[in-house]
Amino acid sequence: MNSIAQAPTNHATAPAELVGSVPSSPAGEIDASELAGLPLPPIRRLPRPVQVIWFGQRQWNFVFANRAKYGDVWGARGYVPGRAAVTCHPDHVQSIFRAPPDKVPTLAAESPLRPVLGPDSVLTANGPRHLRQRKLLLPPFHGEAIARYERMIADAAEREIERWPVGKSLALAPRMQAITLDVIMAGIFGIEGKPKPNTPEGRLRRAIRGVTRSSTLPGAKIAELMNLGHDEPFGLTWLALKIPDRCIYAIISKRRRDPDLENRNDILSLIMRARTEDGETLSDRELRNELMTLVLAGHETTANQLAWTWERLVRTPDAQERLVTAVRDETDDADDVIEQTITEAMRSRPVIPITGRRVAVPWRLGDYGVPAGTPVALSILLLHHREDLYPDPFAFRPERWRDHKPGTYEWIPFGGGTRRCLGAALAMAEQRVVLRAMARRLDLEATTSEPERPKHRNVTMIPARGGRVLVRARRA
Ligand code: HEM
Repeated sequence: MNSIAQAPTNHATAPAELVGSVPSSPAGEIDASELAGLPLPPIRRLPRPVQVIWFGQRQWNFVFANRAKYGDVWGARGYVPGRAAVTCHPDHVQSIFRAPPDKVPTLAAESPLRPVLGPDSVLTANGPRHLRQRKLLLPPFHGEAIARYERMIADAAEREIERWPVGKSLALAPRMQAITLDVIMAGIFGIEGKPKPNTPEGRLRRAIRGVTRSSTLPGAKIAELMNLGHDEPFGLTWLALKIPDRCIYAIISKRRRDPDLENRNDILSLIMRARTEDGETLSDRELRNELMTLVLAGHETTANQLAWTWERLVRTPDAQERLVTAVRDETDDADDVIEQTITEAMRSRPVIPITGRRVAVPWRLGDYGVPAGTPVALSILLLHHREDLYPDPFAFRPERWRDHKPGTYEWIPFGGGTRRCLGAALAMAEQRVVLRAMARRLDLEATTSEPERPKHRNVTMIPARGGRVLVRARRA
């Protein structure tokens, strides 16, 4: 696999400057005459099904192979209809993120997530509905609101860490998921700690864990492909969603009857009270779609990102040592070292490796032009591995960020513009708290020297073995 099995870096000879810059490249809306003078991005002569399978199974390999062959911009035929353009140039990214939303509707509306989350959730909707839902949901996911969760994230992390067997190996992703699921459910449903098993919330927790577990099984990919282009799930996906849906509707119905609904400040109560421009409240189906979006988008991503961080750390002794020492000795720069570690992990293993928009007008991407209606994908993975931007890009070097702030269009694990991840502040808070707790209490080691292969599940890129580590020791 391309560059995954990187050689250990010799820090003595590594370049001193670890964040560089990129020569500029023209990008943005163009008129028909300019479009006529520009070629389409080059594309491999492979049938769509072959490209879909290659991309779906081995996105890492697919994007690096195309970049090596064609450069920053190239064409592909993927999940969504039409001949897509893929780019990894920061100026192109900027042109997309800064464009008015009606010119760049999200491709999430056409992704395999649509039949699972419905067509009208904050992640899948476009236009005025998206902006309204986003405005409603931003305050409870704002940094200040998130600060309130820090104690509970720390408690959830300590509870988990305490249960891990010393002297044995374990996959971190499901353990991280237990923490992040409790956190997001607490915020959404207003529950303290872990939901009780015999409540609808407790049953939903179990059902969601079952769904995410089954989504790594081999049949899941086929189920995903079968649902493409649909608003409603069917087949295996429909079956898998039956139980969680039943639980969500039970929670909604209970909350509608809650006499204290007006005074509650959890997210479900907030969206239940909200009204559309026409003065309507959301239907049960719309509430279900919004809740499912927040629960799914809000826990698996962060859990797998944390698993990747440790997958990298246990194979990069310098970085692990620096983090553990800073946290245990409570050095003045401990917060900075934690931040740099998270930033570098999200650069080198972005759990969402690609995002995109369908341009509503002709667009220029460097030397190429694409007509209105073209899906434009931003490869987060390729952007984050540009040699000019991040010298020694395949090495894990948290110190890269010692004197550099991540650039808005150069470091984009949370996407950007009006579709930037709604949960970014929560995800960062969770990563800071959990990383600190783990570094303080655990001595972790790699179980193999080989890096874990990235596995692609739905829209995420996760460590193939779940971020497996050996717990060598646990401190009080
Ligand atoms: C490390 C963890 C996470 C990563 C890497 C991540 C990444 C992303 C990315 C790349 C996007 C698409 C942005 C774009 O296209 O410009 C996105 C959207 C979104 N994320 Fe996250 N996310 C994470 C955690 C969360 C959490 C904790 C929540 C909790 C609510 C969340 C909720 C959402 C929602 C609702 C959207 C859709 C926003 C919109 O379209 O307006 N995410 N996320």
